[in-house]
Amino acid sequence: MSEIKSIILAAGKGTRMKSQKPKVLHEIFSKPLVGWVIDAINNILGKDKVENVVVVGCGSDEVEKYLKNFDNVSCVLQKEQLGTGHAVSMALDYLKNYTGTVLVTCGDTPLLKSSTLAKMIEYHEQGNFDVTVMSAILDNPFGYGRIVRGASGNVDKIVEQKDCSDAQKQIKEINAGVYCFNWASVKNCFKELKNDNAQGEYYLTDVIFWANSKNKRTSAFTIDDENEILGINSRVQLAQATQIMKNEKLNELMESGVTIVDVNSTSISPETQIGSDSVIYPNTFINGKNKIGSNCKIGPFSHFRGNVEVGDYSKVGNFVELKNAKVGSHTNISHLSYVGDAELGSNINIGAGTIFANYNSITKEKKKSYLKDGVSIGSNSVIVAPVELGENVFVGAGSVITKDVEKDSLALSRSPQKEYTGWVEKQKKLLNKGDK
Ligand code: UD1
Ligand code: CA
Repeated sequence: MSEIKSIILAAGKGTRMKSQKPKVLHEIFSKPLVGWVIDAINNILGKDKVENVVVVGCGSDEVEKYLKNFDNVSCVLQKEQLGTGHAVSMALDYLKNYTGTVLVTCGDTPLLKSSTLAKMIEYHEQGNFDVTVMSAILDNPFGYGRIVRGASGNVDKIVEQKDCSDAQKQIKEINAGVYCFNWASVKNCFKELKNDNAQGEYYLTDVIFWANSKNKRTSAFTIDDENEILGINSRVQLAQATQIMKNEKLNELMESGVTIVDVNSTSISPETQIGSDSVIYPNTFINGKNKIGSNCKIGPFSHFRGNVEVGDYSKVGNFVELKNAKVGSHTNISHLSYVGDAELGSNINIGAGTIFANYNSITKEKKKSYLKDGVSIGSNSVIVAPVELGENVFVGAGSVITKDVEKDSLALSRSPQKEYTGWVEKQKKLLNKGDK
């Protein structure tokens, strides 16, 4: 395997989501379903060696807009959704000069793993197959296409649920909807597919039957973990997939030496790294890509919104929200703070209720703040970006900091305290007079 060309089917409507939004743009940990699929494929060899063609249709404008985030993804439009086989044929022109392996997946299976896809491609290429289909054995195979095997265990054909005979309905081996094709060998099949079936669609699954009829080599790659092929058709399945992804991540972290105090109330995105001996307290939500060091204390009730780095021995406490922030080691942000678009050094203390004001709602611009090592921010302060605080700067509680502060200085921006001696007694006397 030296390069990968992939076709991702994402033109379907997703009726059961009951949504205005195209199905593949529904999100898990703030990443669209199709984004998870693309990332899994890209990670097989690294994105420079992978080229993806996404077949778009329903909601194509929105889907294409999202796909612009990837530099190795092209889109082809399937105007009418005439079936999965028809969908793949939309990519024929794009791949007309290609002769290697083509991987076909669906844009709504966010749990597929790179490692599994890599194994399947190896299996397909080593076995010199023309078509390989991913299969799984399910206790409840209802709804899936069934793998019909011949006498020698070879894959004869795939029969869709709606086209199954009673005997075929008993088959527990199903088509996961992932395929490897020897493109040179099978690309001519797509023009020959027929739609004489229960759904009147051009089925991609018929490629197997076609290949057998031409004496080509077909096979099935059977996987153990059926979770991986979960396709999202409804909000309930979206929640199931989220739960599976979350649990896998928490288990991986615990295995690697991170304490998760309460797995039920903690969510950590798969793209977060956490060093050993860090402790994650309950009700913490860590979303997006983040890197947290070792021996940190996070939570309870912390919220990471992505692109956050936290150094070793640091603390992020309750009701602290972080986004786009780099935090050094031995730094404490213990309570009720927002840190966005900021770079904080080491040995810093951020007092309770400190807000980094990074956003101008008129210009829509975000600006950055820089705090050097040893800075101490008094409680209830606002750090208005862009601003830089030098080493060991001390900010008095309740300050609004709008200008750079030189190192080792005290910065205060609050009105001086006034004292009115005997004021309370005076008030009480006035009140008593009024009563009479
Ligand atoms: C398909 C397989 C079935 C398999 C199942 C696995 C066929 C005929 N059946 O069934 O054997 O068990 O997946 O989940 O392939 N799509 C298009 N254009 C179309 C039709 C579909 O892009 O014209 C896309 C959909 O957006 C979706 C994917 O193809 O991402 C699969 O389509 P779907 O209708 O969900 O197929 P299933 O009926 O689930
Ligand atoms: Ca269908």
